[in-house]
Amino acid sequence: MTFARIAGTGSYLPENIVTNKDLERRVDTTDQWIRERTGIEQRHIAAEDQSTVDLAEPASRRALEAAGIDASELDLIIVATTTPDKIFPSSACLLQARLGVGGCPAFDVQAVCSGFIYALATAEKFIRSGSSKKALVVGAEVFSRILNWDDRTTCVLFGDGAGAVVLEASEEAGVLSTHLHADGNYADLLQVPCGISHHYEQVKAGQAFVEMRGNEVFKVAVNTLGKIVDETLEATQMSKSDIDWLVPHQANLRIISATAKKLDMPMDQVVVTVNRHGNTSAASIPLALDVAVRDGRIKRGQVLLLEAFGGGFTWGSALIRY
Ligand code: COA
Repeated sequence: MTFARIAGTGSYLPENIVTNKDLERRVDTTDQWIRERTGIEQRHIAAEDQSTVDLAEPASRRALEAAGIDASELDLIIVATTTPDKIFPSSACLLQARLGVGGCPAFDVQAVCSGFIYALATAEKFIRSGSSKKALVVGAEVFSRILNWDDRTTCVLFGDGAGAVVLEASEEAGVLSTHLHADGNYADLLQVPCGISHHYEQVKAGQAFVEMRGNEVFKVAVNTLGKIVDETLEATQMSKSDIDWLVPHQANLRIISATAKKLDMPMDQVVVTVNRHGNTSAASIPLALDVAVRDGRIKRGQVLLLEAFGGGFTWGSALIRY
């Protein structure tokens, strides 16, 4: 049986850091409010001339280097993003050209904050079916471009960044199981309510901004993530104590803590980057994963539970032996 294993990870954050104190000067908020309600202390924000692919490229190069794989060996590229460089071509095609390669399939996946899990699950299926042997899976976002910087209820929450993994075919089990879900009936709770074919006038007016009913999103997220933890453990016949690390989507420390509690997991087994990165949407999980791999916390052979929740609503999980 062929499995998909993570051969290498990489990430990239734009240089510019915006602290909560900086935001106090912009909107009616306080460092204390942001820390207490979300756990966020700072976020990285892309420079005006930096695009999603500009962040995805160095993250991808680092993942390729860690995997010891040349870009020419890739036979699949998937980019999860909500903030693509262009309407078309896809960011995956643009990234492919930046990496100096061509020919293999390259496409974007859009599942907002769950995008990386969706992309990972898709790449894993390509590998398990024998269609691919070496896949680059990226989550990259410049979410700052779709934020209303005068809206304190949203602008304090998000940041920009990119994370990547190289998945390769292996005889040994790496990705143990993936679980994807969506419920479009919740679309109105978290959205940018306009686009190219709907309320385009808002886009033209530069008013394409994230709108969120935060409190309602919070409740559904906690409940749903609790359920997907059960679903993942049941599917793999594993118990809570088999998991070495929780690598959650980084939206809010309170949501992360609730999931850890559900797993009876102490917070020192949870990779937390939301304090330094904010919510980087599709980039948040591969960013957190790369941080903990590079600082030596996550070691080969350990079991990782990745989980995410985002606009759509979408949600998903992946259980991985690293
Ligand atoms: N600074 C200060 N006050 C703020 C504020 C800010 N940045 N943002 C909102 N407030 C105020 C609200 O206006 C409200 O004031 P009111 O009581 O006078 O009306 C009060 O704080 C409480 O707002 P509420 O929205 O109920 O707070 P909350 O405890 O739910 O926290 C979030 C808000 C957004 C942090 C929280 O709901 C959340 O994290 N939701 C999930 C968001 C998420 O994860 N989204 C992405 C999913 S991928």
